[in-house]
Amino acid sequence: MEQYIIKGGIPLIGEVEIGGAKNAALAILAAAIMCDEPVYIENVPNVRDTNVLLQAITEIGAVVERIGPHSVKINGKKINSICVDYEFIKKIRASYYLLGALLGKYHQAEVALPGGCNIGSRPIDQHKKGFEALGAEVLIESGMVKANAKRLRGSHIYFDLATVGATINVMMAAVLAEGDTILENAAKEPHVVDAANFLNSMGAKIKGAGTDVIRIRGVKSLHGTEYSIIPDQIEAGTFMMAAAATKGDVIVRNVIPKHLEAISAKLIETGCQITEEDDAVRVFGQSNLYHTNIKTLPYPGFPTDMQPQMTAVLALARGTSIVTETIFENRFKYAGELARMGADIKVEGGNTAIINGVSRLTGAEVNAPDLRAGAALVIAALAAEGYSVIDDIVYIERGYEDFEIKLNGLGAQIQKVKCEKDIQKFKLKIG
Ligand code: EPU
Repeated sequence: MEQYIIKGGIPLIGEVEIGGAKNAALAILAAAIMCDEPVYIENVPNVRDTNVLLQAITEIGAVVERIGPHSVKINGKKINSICVDYEFIKKIRASYYLLGALLGKYHQAEVALPGGCNIGSRPIDQHKKGFEALGAEVLIESGMVKANAKRLRGSHIYFDLATVGATINVMMAAVLAEGDTILENAAKEPHVVDAANFLNSMGAKIKGAGTDVIRIRGVKSLHGTEYSIIPDQIEAGTFMMAAAATKGDVIVRNVIPKHLEAISAKLIETGCQITEEDDAVRVFGQSNLYHTNIKTLPYPGFPTDMQPQMTAVLALARGTSIVTETIFENRFKYAGELARMGADIKVEGGNTAIINGVSRLTGAEVNAPDLRAGAALVIAALAAEGYSVIDDIVYIERGYEDFEIKLNGLGAQIQKVKCEKDIQKFKLKIG
């Protein structure tokens, strides 16, 4: 099992280039099978989650060709199965986007039911409700979600809560339904907008993505396209937090600064200086960080996917900070690991963390409990004195491409290792 060994205490300095957005890519790669012509997609992050989804797409008969490290060509003409099995869903929940894509295109889909995951129970009732409103019969049977429709008809759908997954999934099916669909209380995240822009580039008629009302005029079929995925807001935010925690000076390039506003605003409250260019943000960490409070909210609020990384920064900020998680019920599993590094953090009622800032963290061996929590532990280790070992980095690799290479480029001492001998070698080399 691979681990990261990190020698902390070095301010990160330099420039880092951000890749394509994982969560936009997952929706877009699934949507690409909805036409019978070649679709070229660029800026696809080469991470575990996108690679598993590409395997799932290949498995049902789509032809997937890698044109370059971040470009793929997908042709859904030869799809011969509408059934996506548990092997893929258990590795990556977002394979469920194939439900909306297959239902829209073939009026039937069978996709294994995703269970809960490390961050929460993750129900799919809003996806089901949306598909049913479009005229599909949706059954959950023998671990599968089975959706069938003689005809898909546009509908007026109110989501009970803003959900990224259901908004995108139902939007995909509605694109090929007869007539008009209105999605109310839709999620507004940048990747919802990117998925809508991608579908529109294939001939869909979607308006209003990025607001809470999305209007879709159904079309008969979609056509091939060329599309480039937006930069990853969360990868960018993670490097911004790493700069803040290590009191570094980092230019984060290839970003859309607008998508980072909630993150920048909170870092400014801690005392960091942030400057923006057209497609870059620069974070100047300060020797004294100050406490602040965070509440995770749907976009444009503070993203739940940045909550652990921000908490790692606040662990080192003077005073008491309160972090409230409102999206997922189990997103503080890393708090105990941060405490092993010297953080003073107490989780109350499962969704609130009270953090009394400390002046230093010290390296320790810790476990990454999930993707973003893993990134937070790397940030803490980069700021901590001495050596840390992060276990279970397989989670981190789900969403961060070349994480350690990009961090090395900023002067960090981090290496991926496989065994104790590698750890000893790293320590000898670094001294
Ligand atoms: N929810 C329901 N019913 C549903 C769907 C969602 O109750 O049918 C609830 C969820 O339990 C949660 C809230 O609605 O409490 C929001 O969930 P949402 O559907 O927005 O999340 P998701 O689509 O499953 C995506 C990202 C997550 C990110 C969330 C929130 C992808 C592949 N995943 O998940 O990303 O945290 O939106 O922004 O896009 C990550 O990248 O680390 C990650 C977990």
